[in-house]
Amino acid sequence: RAPTPIIAIDGTAASGKGTLARRLADALGFAYLDTGTLYRKVAVDVLRAGGDPADAGAAIEAAQNLQKNLDLQSLKDPAIRTAEAGKYASVVAAVPGVRSALTDLQRGFAIHPPALADGTPAKGAILDGRDITTFICPDAPVKFYVDAAVETRAQRRHKELLGNGEAIEFEQVLEDMKIRDARDMGRKDAPMTIAPDAIVIDTTAMGVEAVVALAMAHVRTVLGQK
Ligand code: CDP
Ligand code: CDP
Repeated sequence: RAPTPIIAIDGTAASGKGTLARRLADALGFAYLDTGTLYRKVAVDVLRAGGDPADAGAAIEAAQNLQKNLDLQSLKDPAIRTAEAGKYASVVAAVPGVRSALTDLQRGFAIHPPALADGTPAKGAILDGRDITTFICPDAPVKFYVDAAVETRAQRRHKELLGNGEAIEFEQVLEDMKIRDARDMGRKDAPMTIAPDAIVIDTTAMGVEAVVALAMAHVRTVLGQK
Protein backbone atom coordinates (compact mmCIF):
# COMPACT_ATOMS: atom_id res chain seq x y z
CA ARG A 1 0.00 0.00 0.00
CA ALA A 2 1.30 3.48 -0.89
CA PRO A 3 2.05 5.71 2.12
CA THR A 4 -0.68 8.17 3.13
CA PRO A 5 -0.18 11.50 1.35
CA ILE A 6 0.60 14.19 3.92
CA ILE A 7 0.27 17.96 3.61
CA ALA A 8 2.25 19.84 6.28
CA ILE A 9 1.51 23.51 7.00
CA ASP A 10 3.31 25.83 9.41
CA GLY A 11 2.98 29.53 9.99
CA THR A 12 2.48 32.41 12.35
CA ALA A 13 -0.65 33.04 14.46
CA ALA A 14 -3.72 34.14 12.46
CA SER A 15 -1.79 33.93 9.18
CA GLY A 16 -4.63 31.90 7.65
CA LYS A 17 -3.03 28.44 7.88
CA GLY A 18 -6.09 26.85 9.50
CA THR A 19 -8.45 28.29 6.89
CA LEU A 20 -6.18 26.97 4.13
CA ALA A 21 -5.82 23.56 5.80
CA ARG A 22 -9.59 23.16 6.22
CA ARG A 23 -10.27 24.14 2.61
CA LEU A 24 -7.65 21.74 1.25
CA ALA A 25 -8.90 18.93 3.51
CA ASP A 26 -12.49 19.41 2.26
CA ALA A 27 -11.45 19.57 -1.38
CA LEU A 28 -9.19 16.53 -1.21
CA GLY A 29 -11.04 14.32 1.29
CA PHE A 30 -8.13 14.45 3.75
CA ALA A 31 -8.41 14.35 7.57
CA TYR A 32 -7.29 17.59 9.26
CA LEU A 33 -5.53 18.12 12.60
CA ASP A 34 -5.02 21.66 13.96
CA THR A 35 -2.06 20.86 16.23
CA GLY A 36 -2.24 24.27 17.93
CA THR A 37 -5.42 23.04 19.63
CA LEU A 38 -3.35 20.38 21.43
CA TYR A 39 -1.11 23.00 23.05
CA ARG A 40 -4.13 25.21 23.77
CA LYS A 41 -5.88 22.24 25.41
CA VAL A 42 -2.86 21.48 27.61
CA ALA A 43 -2.84 25.12 28.80
CA VAL A 44 -6.60 25.10 29.48
CA ASP A 45 -6.41 21.79 31.35
CA VAL A 46 -3.65 23.13 33.62
CA LEU A 47 -5.59 26.35 34.30
CA ARG A 48 -8.81 24.42 35.01
CA ALA A 49 -6.99 22.22 37.52
CA GLY A 50 -5.93 25.42 39.30
CA GLY A 51 -2.33 25.06 38.17
CA ASP A 52 0.16 27.48 36.64
CA PRO A 53 0.95 26.87 32.92
CA ALA A 54 4.50 28.12 33.59
CA ASP A 55 4.99 25.11 35.92
CA ALA A 56 6.69 22.62 33.58
CA GLY A 57 5.74 19.59 35.70
CA ALA A 58 2.02 20.43 35.61
CA ALA A 59 2.15 21.10 31.86
CA ILE A 60 3.94 17.82 31.12
CA GLU A 61 1.40 15.87 33.19
CA ALA A 62 -1.49 17.51 31.30
CA ALA A 63 0.17 16.73 27.93
CA GLN A 64 0.70 13.10 28.92
CA ASN A 65 -2.96 12.80 29.94
CA LEU A 66 -4.10 14.37 26.69
CA GLN A 67 -1.91 11.99 24.72
CA LYS A 68 -3.38 8.97 26.54
CA ASN A 69 -7.04 9.97 26.39
CA LEU A 70 -7.35 12.14 23.30
CA ASP A 71 -10.92 12.77 22.30
CA LEU A 72 -10.93 14.86 19.10
CA GLN A 73 -14.34 16.28 20.15
CA SER A 74 -12.79 17.85 23.26
CA LEU A 75 -10.66 20.02 20.96
CA LYS A 76 -13.85 21.85 19.92
CA ASP A 77 -14.17 23.34 23.45
CA PRO A 78 -14.67 27.15 22.96
CA ALA A 79 -12.41 27.77 26.00
CA ILE A 80 -9.38 26.86 23.92
CA ARG A 81 -10.01 29.72 21.46
CA THR A 82 -9.63 32.54 24.03
CA ALA A 83 -6.73 35.00 24.00
CA GLU A 84 -5.60 33.57 27.36
CA ALA A 85 -5.48 30.01 25.99
CA GLY A 86 -3.41 31.19 23.01
CA LYS A 87 -0.95 33.01 25.24
CA TYR A 88 -0.45 30.10 27.65
CA ALA A 89 -0.35 27.58 24.78
CA SER A 90 2.93 29.15 23.67
CA VAL A 91 4.23 28.96 27.26
CA VAL A 92 3.55 25.21 27.62
CA ALA A 93 4.76 24.65 24.03
CA ALA A 94 8.25 25.80 25.02
CA VAL A 95 8.58 22.90 27.50
CA PRO A 96 10.40 19.98 25.79
CA GLY A 97 8.50 17.33 27.83
CA VAL A 98 5.19 18.76 26.60
CA ARG A 99 6.32 18.65 22.96
CA SER A 100 7.66 15.09 23.23
CA ALA A 101 4.42 13.86 24.89
CA LEU A 102 2.44 15.13 21.88
CA THR A 103 4.78 13.93 19.11
CA ASP A 104 3.57 10.35 18.61
CA LEU A 105 -0.05 11.43 18.65
CA GLN A 106 0.57 13.88 15.79
CA ARG A 107 2.67 11.46 13.75
CA GLY A 108 0.06 8.74 14.31
CA PHE A 109 -2.64 11.02 12.93
CA ALA A 110 -0.49 11.78 9.87
CA ILE A 111 0.30 8.14 9.11
CA HIS A 112 -3.12 6.66 9.95
CA PRO A 113 -5.64 9.51 9.62
CA PRO A 114 -9.09 8.84 11.13
CA ALA A 115 -12.17 8.44 8.91
CA LEU A 116 -13.93 11.63 7.76
CA ALA A 117 -17.11 12.93 9.44
CA ASP A 118 -19.28 11.03 6.93
CA GLY A 119 -17.50 7.76 7.75
CA THR A 120 -15.50 7.48 4.52
CA PRO A 121 -11.78 6.69 4.87
CA ALA A 122 -9.50 9.74 4.62
CA LYS A 123 -7.45 9.93 1.43
CA GLY A 124 -4.62 11.65 3.27
CA ALA A 125 -3.77 13.87 6.22
CA ILE A 126 -3.24 17.61 6.68
CA LEU A 127 -1.64 18.96 9.85
CA ASP A 128 -0.94 22.60 10.67
CA GLY A 129 1.13 24.16 13.43
CA ARG A 130 4.62 25.50 14.01
CA ASP A 131 6.89 22.45 13.60
CA ILE A 132 4.95 20.18 11.24
CA THR A 133 7.11 20.79 8.16
CA THR A 134 10.37 20.69 10.11
CA PHE A 135 9.91 18.14 12.89
CA ILE A 136 6.61 16.22 13.02
CA CYS A 137 6.39 15.37 9.28
CA PRO A 138 9.73 16.41 7.74
CA ASP A 139 9.19 13.98 4.84
CA ALA A 140 5.75 15.30 3.85
CA PRO A 141 5.67 15.70 0.05
CA VAL A 142 3.71 18.97 0.26
CA LYS A 143 4.74 21.78 2.63
CA PHE A 144 3.50 25.32 3.06
CA TYR A 145 4.67 28.16 5.30
CA VAL A 146 1.95 30.77 5.74
CA ASP A 147 2.64 34.26 7.05
CA ALA A 148 1.25 37.82 6.93
CA ALA A 149 2.18 41.22 8.36
CA VAL A 150 1.77 41.22 12.14
CA GLU A 151 -0.69 44.16 12.08
CA THR A 152 -2.89 42.30 9.58
CA ARG A 153 -2.78 39.15 11.67
CA ALA A 154 -3.62 41.08 14.84
CA GLN A 155 -6.59 42.71 13.06
CA ARG A 156 -7.88 39.29 11.96
CA ARG A 157 -7.46 37.79 15.42
CA HIS A 158 -9.01 40.84 17.11
CA LYS A 159 -12.10 40.49 14.91
CA GLU A 160 -12.37 36.77 15.72
CA LEU A 161 -12.03 37.35 19.47
CA LEU A 162 -14.69 40.10 19.42
CA GLY A 163 -16.91 37.74 17.42
CA ASN A 164 -16.45 35.12 20.15
CA GLY A 165 -17.66 37.66 22.71
CA GLU A 166 -14.26 38.47 24.16
CA ALA A 167 -13.86 42.19 24.95
CA ILE A 168 -10.21 42.92 24.19
CA GLU A 169 -8.35 45.93 22.75
CA PHE A 170 -6.61 45.73 19.38
CA GLU A 171 -3.36 47.00 20.95
CA GLN A 172 -3.43 44.11 23.43
CA VAL A 173 -3.93 41.53 20.66
CA LEU A 174 -1.05 43.05 18.67
CA GLU A 175 1.25 43.03 21.71
CA ASP A 176 0.31 39.42 22.61
CA MET A 177 0.94 38.33 19.03
CA LYS A 178 4.42 39.87 18.91
CA ILE A 179 5.35 38.16 22.19
CA ARG A 180 3.97 34.83 20.94
CA ASP A 181 5.82 35.06 17.60
CA ALA A 182 9.08 35.75 19.42
CA ARG A 183 8.54 32.87 21.85
CA ASP A 184 7.64 30.41 19.06
CA MET A 185 10.65 31.37 16.96
CA GLY A 186 13.09 31.70 19.84
CA ARG A 187 12.48 28.52 21.83
CA LYS A 188 15.22 25.87 21.90
CA ASP A 189 13.05 22.85 21.13
CA ALA A 190 11.54 22.73 17.61
CA PRO A 191 11.43 26.51 17.07
CA MET A 192 9.34 27.72 14.16
CA THR A 193 11.50 28.03 11.05
CA ILE A 194 10.78 27.93 7.31
CA ALA A 195 11.58 24.47 5.91
CA PRO A 196 13.85 24.81 2.85
CA ASP A 197 11.35 22.87 0.72
CA ALA A 198 8.24 24.76 1.90
CA ILE A 199 6.21 26.99 -0.42
CA VAL A 200 5.91 30.36 1.34
CA ILE A 201 2.54 32.12 1.07
CA ASP A 202 2.17 35.69 2.33
CA THR A 203 -1.54 36.27 2.89
CA THR A 204 -1.29 39.97 3.88
CA ALA A 205 -2.98 41.14 0.69
CA MET A 206 -4.50 37.84 -0.44
CA GLY A 207 -8.08 36.72 -0.03
CA VAL A 208 -8.87 33.17 1.05
CA GLU A 209 -9.86 32.05 -2.48
CA ALA A 210 -6.57 33.24 -4.00
CA VAL A 211 -4.59 31.44 -1.28
CA VAL A 212 -6.54 28.21 -1.78
CA ALA A 213 -6.11 28.35 -5.59
CA LEU A 214 -2.36 28.91 -5.28
CA ALA A 215 -1.95 26.05 -2.80
CA MET A 216 -4.22 23.70 -4.75
CA ALA A 217 -2.12 24.19 -7.90
CA HIS A 218 0.97 23.13 -6.00
CA VAL A 219 -0.79 20.15 -4.39
CA ARG A 220 -1.97 18.93 -7.81
CA THR A 221 1.53 19.24 -9.25
CA VAL A 222 3.05 17.18 -6.45
CA LEU A 223 0.34 14.63 -5.66
CA GLY A 224 -1.10 14.35 -9.17
CA GLN A 225 -4.64 15.13 -10.34
CA LYS A 226 -7.38 14.13 -7.92
O1 CDP B 1 -4.37 29.76 16.01
P1 CDP B 1 -3.07 30.43 16.29
O2 CDP B 1 -2.26 30.54 15.07
O3 CDP B 1 -3.19 31.62 17.13
O4 CDP B 1 -2.21 29.48 17.24
P2 CDP B 1 -2.29 27.94 17.36
O5 CDP B 1 -1.94 27.33 16.06
O6 CDP B 1 -3.58 27.58 17.98
O7 CDP B 1 -1.09 27.61 18.36
C1 CDP B 1 -1.07 28.10 19.70
C2 CDP B 1 0.36 27.98 20.19
O8 CDP B 1 0.71 26.58 20.29
C3 CDP B 1 1.43 28.58 19.29
O9 CDP B 1 1.66 29.96 19.56
C4 CDP B 1 2.65 27.73 19.61
O10 CDP B 1 3.33 28.19 20.76
C5 CDP B 1 2.07 26.37 19.96
N1 CDP B 1 2.22 25.40 18.88
C6 CDP B 1 3.42 24.75 18.73
O11 CDP B 1 4.36 25.04 19.47
N2 CDP B 1 3.59 23.78 17.81
C7 CDP B 1 2.59 23.46 16.98
N3 CDP B 1 2.77 22.48 16.09
C8 CDP B 1 1.35 24.12 17.08
C9 CDP B 1 1.20 25.12 18.03
O1 CDP C 1 -5.01 29.13 11.65
P1 CDP C 1 -4.49 30.53 11.76
O2 CDP C 1 -4.42 31.01 13.17
O3 CDP C 1 -3.20 30.74 11.03
O4 CDP C 1 -5.50 31.51 11.02
P2 CDP C 1 -7.01 31.28 10.53
O5 CDP C 1 -7.85 30.89 11.68
O6 CDP C 1 -7.03 30.42 9.33
O7 CDP C 1 -7.36 32.74 10.02
C1 CDP C 1 -7.49 33.83 10.92
C2 CDP C 1 -8.52 34.80 10.36
O8 CDP C 1 -8.00 35.42 9.18
C3 CDP C 1 -9.84 34.13 9.96
O9 CDP C 1 -10.90 34.94 10.42
C4 CDP C 1 -9.79 34.12 8.46
O10 CDP C 1 -11.05 34.21 7.85
C5 CDP C 1 -8.94 35.34 8.13
N1 CDP C 1 -8.20 35.18 6.86
C6 CDP C 1 -8.18 36.19 5.95
O11 CDP C 1 -8.78 37.24 6.20
N2 CDP C 1 -7.49 36.07 4.76
C7 CDP C 1 -6.81 34.95 4.48
N3 CDP C 1 -6.15 34.84 3.34
C8 CDP C 1 -6.81 33.91 5.43
C9 CDP C 1 -7.51 34.06 6.61
